Amino acid sequence: MKAWYEGRIVDAANCRIPVLDHGLLYGDGVFEGIRISAGRVFRLDCHLARLARSARAIGLDLPCPLDTIRGIVLDTARAHGEAEAYVRLLVTRGVGELTLDPTACDEPRLICIVAPIRLFDEAARRRGLRLMTAAVRRPRSDQLDPQVKSLNYLNNVLAKRDARLKGFDDALLLNDVGHVAEASAANVFADLDGELVTPPPSDGALPGLTRASLFDIARAAGSEVSQRSLTRYDLLAAREVFLSGSGAGLVAVASLDGTAVGGADRPWLAALARAWPDYAQAHGTPF
Ligand SMILES: Cc1ncc(COP(=O)(O)O)c(C=O)c1O
Repeated sequence: MKAWYEGRIVDAANCRIPVLDHGLLYGDGVFEGIRISAGRVFRLDCHLARLARSARAIGLDLPCPLDTIRGIVLDTARAHGEAEAYVRLLVTRGVGELTLDPTACDEPRLICIVAPIRLFDEAARRRGLRLMTAAVRRPRSDQLDPQVKSLNYLNNVLAKRDARLKGFDDALLLNDVGHVAEASAANVFADLDGELVTPPPSDGALPGLTRASLFDIARAAGSEVSQRSLTRYDLLAAREVFLSGSGAGLVAVASLDGTAVGGADRPWLAALARAWPDYAQAHGTPF
């Protein structure tokens, strides 16, 4: 596992960041999680563009141009040297004082970690995930806009913790009006009588890049994915439910709060997963 920090690539276990970094003290910063698949970094420029949008949305200047960050990701991926891996790219507000005032911070800091990919375990993937509806809600866009991929994931962490402690694989987060937002770190798709539907960002879904890629794959096969609000009822009544994400991959949902969802057949997931390797190859940057 390798990490880039302050111009050097080192073993991630030996990488040290200052205790006064506001990314650590206040979760003040933004990040990307990027998949490396078959020796290619998946949709790197789209991830960099989303990083830049997240940073702009919280008034954080990136410490260097996107092209330089691109090079850092590829160098760190090369140093890690595995064809299947996961990139965690972070920009923190930088070192400041023990006050949350971000104007007291010196300069934004970039960290790039490349690590083995940790998907849901194989048994859970094969049987399908058991989801639990989280007690905590996805914040509204006038609170902490879920489109900002910020370092402040406590809401998602608590949802995941609650689900894991109760024996579930992952949590389903609803928004303030009870519409489905997403899972703890993945987007949700449901087949409603043949129509593939996913919640819109305005309901609290991160505009996931795996999600966007599934729109492309479905369109190329002659189907459109609809973006509209979903409720727990929709998921329980759906023919098929699955999650998508850089870390999660494409994975079936078998139950919600103990009630089985979908059937044994997962035609959407099967078709999308078949098309995935070619799509990833065409949209990946080799290192
Ligand atoms: C909260 C959340 N939703 C959805 C996703 C999926 O987005 P992507 O496909 O870009 O990884 C992620 C990241 O993995 C996430 O953290």
